[in-house]
Amino acid sequence: MKLAIVGAGKMGSAVLTGALKAGVLSPQDVGIYHPIENRRQQLADHFQVNPLNDDDIHHAERVLIAVKPQSFDDVAPLIAQRSASYISLMAGVPATTIARRVGSNRVVRAMPNLGARVGLSATALASLPQATSEDVGVAEQLFGAVGTVYHIPERLFDAFTGLAGSGPAFAAIFAEALADGGVSVGFNRKTARDLARQVMLATAELLTEDEPADIKDEVSSAGGTAISGLVALERHGLRYAAIQAIKDASARAAELSQEDK
Ligand SMILES: NC(=O)c1ccc[n+]([C@@H]2O[C@H](COP(=O)([O-])OP(=O)(O)OC[C@H]3O[C@@H](n4cnc5c(N)ncnc54)[C@H](OP(=O)(O)O)[C@@H]3O)[C@@H](O)[C@H]2O)c1
Repeated sequence: MKLAIVGAGKMGSAVLTGALKAGVLSPQDVGIYHPIENRRQQLADHFQVNPLNDDDIHHAERVLIAVKPQSFDDVAPLIAQRSASYISLMAGVPATTIARRVGSNRVVRAMPNLGARVGLSATALASLPQATSEDVGVAEQLFGAVGTVYHIPERLFDAFTGLAGSGPAFAAIFAEALADGGVSVGFNRKTARDLARQVMLATAELLTEDEPADIKDEVSSAGGTAISGLVALERHGLRYAAIQAIKDASARAAELSQEDK
């Protein structure tokens, strides 16, 4: 599979690294574009792929757009080509906007999350009807190399961003709060952090087999310690806060998508 990458930052690099490691991409078939020559050579050397100049990227047949949405204005005229195929992972930029700017309707939109860095992304995919099954298949392979792919209607991308995109931040502050709780009952910071991390890791692994409610019930014996803690979480509205966080994050994603149109 030949692929030109525009924007090898945090997310572009994570996808490229995962796809090279999984053998989905071969280094000789990948090119990286950056407007600054030194930087493009540096990136190409780092990933052992080809550096692409303005002319190369203009003729690329399959392009992964992984720049920030605000850089898309600079990039669009350079990559625009009627017959090319595009995969975008820019948050908040609708597939039709991309199609209009690049002059091709062969657009697949992806929304990965930070889990891509460790091969555990939840990635949403949606495509315009003109994208071929090969175009969609390529995106499935790329993002399948860094986690799990979910085909989701594009109208739910903002909701997906609220839950799966922002979710790692919510889970991380819960881990931090567990560690703070550990410090408040007498552990030093390092031990408290280690314990909180281990609890999160074990729970994530258990969740691959069991439903959340089953794990909760298994830990909570009658009149025991876990149920006392759960009562405290309910009293302080943890569930409500989590639900509201997803709703607010989704609403904010929708607002940003509107600004971007
Ligand atoms: N990070 C996430 O968790 C995440 C999740 C989902 C979606 N996304 C989306 O992924 C995209 C990239 O985000 P990121 O976090 O990876 O940002 P990032 O680390 O800043 O990456 C953007 C990269 O684009 C490069 N760049 C800027 N202008 C360019 C141009 N004209 N041509 C070629 N390359 C150019 C930058 O290079 P220099 O810095 O060297 O200029 C930088 O390496 C965004 O659209 C974001 O919405 C990110």
